[in-house]
Amino acid sequence: MTATGDAAAAGPGEAGSGSAPARVAVVGGAGFIGSHLVELLAADQVSVLVIDDLSHPCGVSAPSTVEVVEADAGGPEAAGALARFRPQALVHLAAKGGVNRALRDPGDHVRRVLASSVACFDAAARAGCEAIVIASSGGAVYGDAVRLPASEELVPAPRSAYGAEKLCEETYLWTYRPRGVRTVALRYGNVYGPRQDGTGEAGVVAISSTRLVQGLRPVIYGDGSQTRDFVYVADVAAATRAALLSSAEGPLNVGTGRETSVREVVEGLIRVAGAEVAPDYQPARAGEVARACLDAGRAERLMGWKPQTALSEGLARTHRHFAT
Ligand SMILES: NC(=O)c1ccc[n+]([C@@H]2O[C@H](COP(=O)([O-])OP(=O)(O)OC[C@H]3O[C@@H](n4cnc5c(N)ncnc54)[C@H](O)[C@@H]3O)[C@@H](O)[C@H]2O)c1
Repeated sequence: MTATGDAAAAGPGEAGSGSAPARVAVVGGAGFIGSHLVELLAADQVSVLVIDDLSHPCGVSAPSTVEVVEADAGGPEAAGALARFRPQALVHLAAKGGVNRALRDPGDHVRRVLASSVACFDAAARAGCEAIVIASSGGAVYGDAVRLPASEELVPAPRSAYGAEKLCEETYLWTYRPRGVRTVALRYGNVYGPRQDGTGEAGVVAISSTRLVQGLRPVIYGDGSQTRDFVYVADVAAATRAALLSSAEGPLNVGTGRETSVREVVEGLIRVAGAEVAPDYQPARAGEVARACLDAGRAERLMGWKPQTALSEGLARTHRHFAT
């Protein structure tokens, strides 16, 4: 792996490029984002251990060089696998659904996601892991941000159970820093692309693509004017890899800096699909923020990362994936 960080741009407590880890554990590596990351790391000849309970796999098998342990991230089997594998870095991508699922039963969400994640961080630190990178959410932790694009300097103010849980995960993560673990929370925007589950509740691009392929009208909740920062999955996997290569610390936004309405995205998909349908407008859902857009300048300065995929190209690739 080649490091791409920017040492000159680093602030206090933040350095530029670090040394590349040879052994990486990817928790949730069988999922949508995880599968793309695992392929990147395997192509880099990194030794990869995937820990995944296979509750929501994306359906693509890991490369043959990758060891897969089926286990809850926070359980004894995962801790044992980490102690044996001794990863230099751990990427935590395990989660149980998005905003709506957490909203339905926030207590259950805390038990199944937060408790499992924190136990996993602890097992990683005990196994001698030098860096832990987690998937947070830029769309959820800032809430209705007072200034857009939201930068990491804004005080987070989640307005959903999902966002609150992400912020708690971050807070627990920072407690490992005094113990010598490099800690990074990647605050992803709205990630979209091939292999996302188009049958669930989250992921407007995947769900709309699936509906279009089935000859159904894409659904928009509310009037579609709500905005998001849509970032392509290959760019997100590259940002996550860059976090392993750099020695950046703390929260880092991973987005495009472009605010796009849900209506614009759905209409774009209808166009690339060549369909002659209009969106089906349904009542707005609770807990959703009105506008989201991320300033990823810090990720560029500290990790040398910038998104590469224009929305039109990403939507076309995603549609091709769902159509074939
Ligand atoms: N997709 C997005 O738009 C988006 C945006 C912001 C943040 N995120 C975060 O990025 C991460 C990855 O998201 P994704 O879209 O790839 O989700 P995903 O559901 O496709 O993948 C999650 C993976 O984690 C596994 N998993 C779930 N609970 C587990 C547990 N307790 N132990 C072990 N494995 C477990 C699932 O089987 C799945 O393979 C999540 O933390 C998610 O909250 C995603």
